[in-house]
Amino acid sequence: MLDEKQKLKEIIQLGNDIAQIQDLDILLEHILTKARMFTNADAGSIYIVDGSILKFQYNQNNTLQKKLPEGKKLIYSTFTVPIDDQTISGYVANNGEMLNIPNVYMIPENAPYSFGARYDELSEYHTTSMLTIPLKLSLGTVVGVLQLINAMDRKGRIIPFSRKDEQYIRHFANGAAVAIERAQMTRTLLLRMISMAELRDPRETGAHVNRVAAYAVAIYEAWARRRGDADDVIRRNLGSLRMAAMLHDVGKVAISDVILKKPAHLVEDEYQIMKQHTFLGARLFNEKYSNFDEAAYLVALNHHERWDGGGYPGYIDAATGESLPGFEAQGKSARGKSREEIPAYGRVVAIADVYDALASNRAYKKAWSEDRVLETMKEETGKHFDPEMMEVFFDNVDLIKAIHARYPEEE
Ligand code: C2E
Ligand code: SIN
Ligand code: SIN
Ligand code: SIN
Ligand code: FE
Ligand code: FE
Repeated sequence: MLDEKQKLKEIIQLGNDIAQIQDLDILLEHILTKARMFTNADAGSIYIVDGSILKFQYNQNNTLQKKLPEGKKLIYSTFTVPIDDQTISGYVANNGEMLNIPNVYMIPENAPYSFGARYDELSEYHTTSMLTIPLKLSLGTVVGVLQLINAMDRKGRIIPFSRKDEQYIRHFANGAAVAIERAQMTRTLLLRMISMAELRDPRETGAHVNRVAAYAVAIYEAWARRRGDADDVIRRNLGSLRMAAMLHDVGKVAISDVILKKPAHLVEDEYQIMKQHTFLGARLFNEKYSNFDEAAYLVALNHHERWDGGGYPGYIDAATGESLPGFEAQGKSARGKSREEIPAYGRVVAIADVYDALASNRAYKKAWSEDRVLETMKEETGKHFDPEMMEVFFDNVDLIKAIHARYPEEE
């Protein structure tokens, strides 16, 4: 448990983190972790307001987490709650008021809300104390709800949340709300940019972009942890990587519709032109102002390199597309990068992109069966893909499948 001095330090640190972390999902995870630390809560969730509903967006549960093998993440399904007085989270969002409930199974009969025991039944968990607070902007708009579950004393016994807990949480829930609003704006802008790119290629949907980003982040996180990278470094990298992965094919906007939308396999000349989407995309991020620009550049340029050196575009000057002096392979094309010459962001997005391309419909082909996809991924390990990252991929294959299901095609 944290003492008061540590808590003060943490509050200051959180301000810094919010300023640095650009990505909404990563920010939410971080806010939830901090809120639980402050109150010594066993579990917690964050809901985000989406029109007239609340979306259950993020979930942590220490007790359930401990039942999983080291390094595994909880897999949970997303659900929605109406913003009305019937449920606890709905009530908090609807009224903009905090609820501090000592025991959710002993809510007075005359309260408008009640506890839905379904979550406990599904997860085989026992919720007792619950502190639920609105995430409010300064003008009073509620953008989300933060829910903390089962405060623990020093001996690990469940106790009610205290007045002090309420004060702490109120204090940084406000900051969190502003951060969420800002992150949502950034993401909205990015999604607009991506959907402009998609208008060029209607078969490639926002779902594909979201999936590729989510797989890449999942694999990279587990891989970086295994290598022993520091938590704060990983966290910062994941934010940039997620957005960069969403933009991996942004260079396709420069490819002609005749090639992009061809409902058949490409001939050699067409494929040569198609391959230019790598450095054409990278060029958009040539001016590297931030970690994100750097990540977007690396992903666009390197997501079609292969571990065995047979990929593209290889050692080129992204500004001209020409081979770098001394790196010519045959003819005009450059020598491919191989193994760790390929930046890690490129290696991880290659895995995510091919997996999703095989598992989904394309203008030029139907989705493959799950067995065939996984068989191909295995065959390509050490050829197309980094073997160490593929170990992580197969260790987390259930999570990968859950991501595929979480973002279904809209068709
Ligand atoms: P994409 O559809 O997003 O595919 C990304 C990568 O997934 C491909 O990179 C390739 O490595 C892998 N992939 C996709 N489909 C298959 C498949 O059926 N079998 C195997 N073994 N691997 C597959 P690649 O080949 O460099 O292609 C880059 C992009 O070029 C593709 O992105 C797609 O937009 C386009 N493209 C590639 N081949 C064709 C084609 O035959 N017809 C059309 N219309 N477009 C193609
Ligand atoms: C994009 O249009 O930029 C993304 C293309 C894709 O779906 O991979
Ligand atoms: C390839 O993987 O060779 C390109 C994708 C395709 O032609 O299906
Ligand atoms: C290729 O051989 O170019 C792509 C096949 C794959 O890695 O899935
Ligand atoms: Fe690509
Ligand atoms: Fe793609």
